[in-house]
Amino acid sequence: MVIAIDGPAGAGKSTVARAVAAELGFTYLDSGAMYRCVALAAREAGVDAEDAAALGPLAAGLEIGFDGRRVLLGGRDVSDEIRTPAVSADASRVSVHPAVRAAMVERQRELIAAGRYVAEGRDIGTVVSPDSPLKVFLTASDEERARRRAAETGEDVETVLAAQKARDARDTEREHGALRAAADAVELDTTSLSLEEVVAQVVALARSRGLTKRPTGDSGDPERTSPQFVSEGSPESPPSPCPSEGSPASPSSEAQ
Ligand code: DC
Repeated sequence: MVIAIDGPAGAGKSTVARAVAAELGFTYLDSGAMYRCVALAAREAGVDAEDAAALGPLAAGLEIGFDGRRVLLGGRDVSDEIRTPAVSADASRVSVHPAVRAAMVERQRELIAAGRYVAEGRDIGTVVSPDSPLKVFLTASDEERARRRAAETGEDVETVLAAQKARDARDTEREHGALRAAADAVELDTTSLSLEEVVAQVVALARSRGLTKRPTGDSGDPERTSPQFVSEGSPESPPSPCPSEGSPASPSSEAQ
């Protein structure tokens, strides 16, 4: 079972999804990290991000895993490498190819079939899990998303805005798994909301739909006290607390 949190880069998906997972006692899944792994593997293999014929088999053959907060590619910790600007740009390019998406979607479905997840990405509610009992589509203004990201990375807002526009265009215009809200998604504009307000709204929605694991008020997780949004993909972002392959999930989450 999965709570789907989709939206564009910088809308606060990672921070919100992580906090909601901690609050509910679910496991957090960062689907973007998987596309980033494909991009990194392609770079290392000398495969161009436009080379669909080569990227499909490459993606299908990757061993992508999660160990607590670490992202593992073939057993190697790539948590930092997948967050560089070059890999971010390539992740957006490799993710347009249907064969790459098919390989990642299959893997994501395997993971979420094995427990209770809060998964964030672009197509969780539309493609990966159209039957999700709660779909949230997070947005924020372009300027606010760029501002949040620039505040973390130290880049100037204009530079971030330009790169963000290019990624947004690729994410929304691609033919498969395009970024869009599912018809039954709850849309939340986070532009003028605090992280706590957004998390509280999503948790309330989950509880109102019976998607709970822990009794109300028993969060017990220190991560949700983080006071600020952290843009996904930031070098400063803490790595995602994703589940290990075949091992217990991170301390804040309990896969079932
Ligand atoms: O969420 P993120 O910025 O880490 O994602 C990196 C790239 O992966 C992003 O440009 C779009 C792509 N992506 C995707 O196509 N589908 C997803 N479910 C998640 C990410």
